Amino acid sequence: MRADFLPFSKPSITEEDIQAVGDVLRSGWITTGPKCAQLEADFKQYTGCADAVSMTSETSVMHALFRALNIGPGDEIITPSMTWVSLPNTALLFGAKVVFVDVDKDTLMVNAKEIESRITPRTKMIVPVHFAGAALELGALRALAEKHHVLLVEDAAHALGSEWNGEKIGAKGTSMFSFHPIKNITTGEGGMFATDNPELGNRVRSLKFHGLGVDAYDRQTHGRAPQAQVVEPGYKFNLPDMQAVLGIRQLARVDAMNEKRRQLALRYHEKLAAVEELIPLKEPAYKFKHSWHLFVVRVDSDKAGISRDEFMAELKKRNIGTGLHFRCTHLQKYYREALGHRAGSLPNTEWNSDRIVSLPLFPDMTERDQDDVVGAIQEVFRK
Ligand SMILES: Cc1ncc(COP(=O)(O)O)c(C=O)c1O
Repeated sequence: MRADFLPFSKPSITEEDIQAVGDVLRSGWITTGPKCAQLEADFKQYTGCADAVSMTSETSVMHALFRALNIGPGDEIITPSMTWVSLPNTALLFGAKVVFVDVDKDTLMVNAKEIESRITPRTKMIVPVHFAGAALELGALRALAEKHHVLLVEDAAHALGSEWNGEKIGAKGTSMFSFHPIKNITTGEGGMFATDNPELGNRVRSLKFHGLGVDAYDRQTHGRAPQAQVVEPGYKFNLPDMQAVLGIRQLARVDAMNEKRRQLALRYHEKLAAVEELIPLKEPAYKFKHSWHLFVVRVDSDKAGISRDEFMAELKKRNIGTGLHFRCTHLQKYYREALGHRAGSLPNTEWNSDRIVSLPLFPDMTERDQDDVVGAIQEVFRK
């Protein structure tokens, strides 16, 4: 058994990263400033998006966006239940109705046909998720959004570096990214709003900083122009430079880090091919590039003789960490008790919610670490 605990994810932080953060701390300017401006510029260059607004998390991005779109009671937002709770929670906090849509049983992504069946005259926005780093089929989703005059906003938390049909995720339309520590790049906590709609970009930029007419940082005064006025009430969601500098360094090597993830993912596929108790996800049939944010499998409890939770506990006993992405949203306490959601409404989501588990995958993970994971899995199922 492994002597030390292997987490399911770990940020890749170099000595130079630490040095760069230290340099910002020593510089005298640690909040939003030149590093944020550079991170946004680099992000635009990397993804090809027209406008990028950095924030303290993707959840902050969602709040600013909902406000910018004046979403409120009477509006409906369509999103999968197989996602992190940020988007559904934000919709509820704004008084909107969350309309959950089922996912494909084997890719865990929504498709345009399923979404269309949930569209009503009250639908304001659809927010599908590029799941685990695979890419959504954007062609059909864009056509659907256009046909019904609703806004398509991609939840790209898992998809930095992913591509659909040769197009980088974020390059077109409107999308939201997360820089949480388990994501493909991190700023500790952080997020980015990417859009090709300049009006929306500017509104969100103002809302992220008290609704002032300018950003937190003015390049001429090296601070906020004291004359700036509130044009509408806004939030305090600006990313500090001491975090942004980490993002700049991480973004510069995201392709290399994603390549390491890819190699490990392929190796998992090989090494686990004979493990009948685990059902891998399927990759979509269309042209896309995976960023391998997560390596998700499903525990076949009938074959394994144990549940997913027991499987996770057995691996933990062997010093192997795992993740759960995600426990479906619609059956969580509040959603059941206050909103009346019931089991049986989203069969593929619920089936997966009971069986999915994320195995360790991060750029600095070694093949030896991976062999420990595979060995522990084999041992658990032998037992
Ligand atoms: C699919 C998805 N959406 C949104 C988020 C929220 O990101 P953040 O933690 O930066 O607010 C996450 C993060 O876990 C996520 O996985």
